[in-house]
Amino acid sequence: MNVIAVVSATGGAGRTTVCGSLAVLLARRRHEVVALELDNQNVLSVYLGLDALPGRGLVQALLDGRSAWHAQTFRSAEGVLFVPHGALDGEQASACDARLATMPCWLRSVLADIDVQGDGVVMLDTARYPSALTMQAVRCADLVLYVSTPDPAAAVSLGAVLAPLRRCAAALHVVVNRVNPAHPMQADVLALLRVKVGEATLLPQRLHLDAAVPDAFARGAWVFDDAPSSQMSHDLHGLAKWLDEWLVARAGGN
Ligand SMILES: Nc1ncnc2c1ncn2[C@@H]1O[C@H](COP(=O)(O)OP(=O)(O)OP(=O)(O)O)[C@@H](O)[C@H]1O
Ligand SMILES: [Mg+2]
Repeated sequence: MNVIAVVSATGGAGRTTVCGSLAVLLARRRHEVVALELDNQNVLSVYLGLDALPGRGLVQALLDGRSAWHAQTFRSAEGVLFVPHGALDGEQASACDARLATMPCWLRSVLADIDVQGDGVVMLDTARYPSALTMQAVRCADLVLYVSTPDPAAAVSLGAVLAPLRRCAAALHVVVNRVNPAHPMQADVLALLRVKVGEATLLPQRLHLDAAVPDAFARGAWVFDDAPSSQMSHDLHGLAKWLDEWLVARAGGN
């Protein structure tokens, strides 16, 4: 089993888009895929096919300590098994954080309960780093895929978390999303990232700013199906191919 956490320290970088797209594209590449939503927004579950925001999910099992999260497992049209985070109000979110502080291996025990073999994948969509559950995801993951936008603020945020992520993560790669070649400033930020992050960590596969992405979601579809000739369709297929090769290389090394 391969655990992949999609992470970023800034909001709206594209974590859920990348996580959901990779889950579906890896399933099409014949991997067994489970997706866990570790963000109270519960958007991933809607992208994967739920008609409405889910009320219950993983964290209700954490909070009441009795119910099993397995009952909240759904299967997408692509065959991706997924478990929503579950809805929390402010008080419940604080209770959840308090519980996670006393159970630093809670997510590890959830993952141990998932029956995915061999080249199967568990994709984790996370809340902004460093939330309590995101920290657990980083520690459990075989690969942390950090999504950054190519703007100065995001580069500063990434610079601040790079060292702690490198200490905790088994493997770390950075993918840049929302690249717009018409913006000369972005070329400077990408050059800065190459120096700060390093060529070995920064993926050459870039994801471009593409209006086809939100358009597709508005139609309840993935961009690679709704607009197969779009730039982002091409980019996401490229990223899925890279991840598939990473999984093969990892299996060879095991
Ligand atoms: N490459 C892209 N081009 C255009 N729009 C994009 C791109 N990637 C993501 N988006 C859009 O940006 C918005 C935020 O994306 P997404 O929800 O994936 O980010 P996130 O990092 O999960 O955000 P949050 O911090 O809220 O969890 C969505 O409306 C999505 O459709
Ligand atoms: Mg998200």
